[in-house]
Amino acid sequence: MPLASSPIGVFDSGVGGLSVLRALLAAMPNERFVYLADSAHAPYGERGDTYVSARTHAIADYLCAQHGIKALVVACNTATAAAIHEVRSSRPELPLVGLEPAIKPALAATRTGHVGVIGTRGTLTSAKFARLMTSVAEQAHFVIQPCDGLAHAIERSVSRPGPLPGAPVEATETGKLCKTYLEAMGAFGTAPGLIDTLVLGCTHYVFVADELRAITGPDVQFIETGEPVARQTQRLLEAGGIANAPADMGAGGGQPAATPATSRVQLLTTGPVEMLQAAAQRWLDLPAQCCSSVTVP
Ligand code: DGL
Repeated sequence: MPLASSPIGVFDSGVGGLSVLRALLAAMPNERFVYLADSAHAPYGERGDTYVSARTHAIADYLCAQHGIKALVVACNTATAAAIHEVRSSRPELPLVGLEPAIKPALAATRTGHVGVIGTRGTLTSAKFARLMTSVAEQAHFVIQPCDGLAHAIERSVSRPGPLPGAPVEATETGKLCKTYLEAMGAFGTAPGLIDTLVLGCTHYVFVADELRAITGPDVQFIETGEPVARQTQRLLEAGGIANAPADMGAGGGQPAATPATSRVQLLTTGPVEMLQAAAQRWLDLPAQCCSSVTVP
């Protein structure tokens, strides 16, 4: 039986969900997290629902059995679209938070009424996404672009050095893909008729925001889901009475002592541990010893 002090499980097909973990760590300084990157089986986006659903069940089972998690954040739009309803019905006792492209916040943000949505093919062709789009179809003009191969290229880019300062965006594999896909969507900007809001419908894409920005220009708003998901997770824990209380109080002024992120996070991967270590260090400033490799059949 999980306790308030039990960790929260977070998983993604790979390193993309670290963008969500970053928001969770910032929002909940008293919680512990076990993050699982299923990099041996990434990318999910072009694999089909049956495969993604089987992986999602296997990982939920693993995190419950081996780590006694008290809640699960599915930090992957593709896995949420394919399997969250099934995990919810097979584990009704487990507080569960999924992700979907942040269409409604984008509607609130757009001024031109032209919204771009990028994500994996799995997410953007799912029945769940179709239902979401039906509910908002009249409210804006949407340009929807699946980005085959981009999440995988982001996984591969982690251990490579970044582009040299001033290099053109297409100098990297990720930059080249971003350019191809965004150019296919039309023109970006804040003038009437242009796409002024871009929904990042895949957790990996947060880590190529600079490349995307080089193509859209500075004024386009990017909408991602890390912070709203962190708030939703916090609400769920509080409603269930399983939020962790501060472990101890600081010596001065009765403020809770901040627990360093290193002692609150365990990062696991089914793929090469060096890749997770590089991503953790580059994007979360977490040291290599937080990371280990696991097998989840
Ligand atoms: N990061 C994932 C998402 O949010 C999936 C990327 C992939 O494995 O294709 O959809």
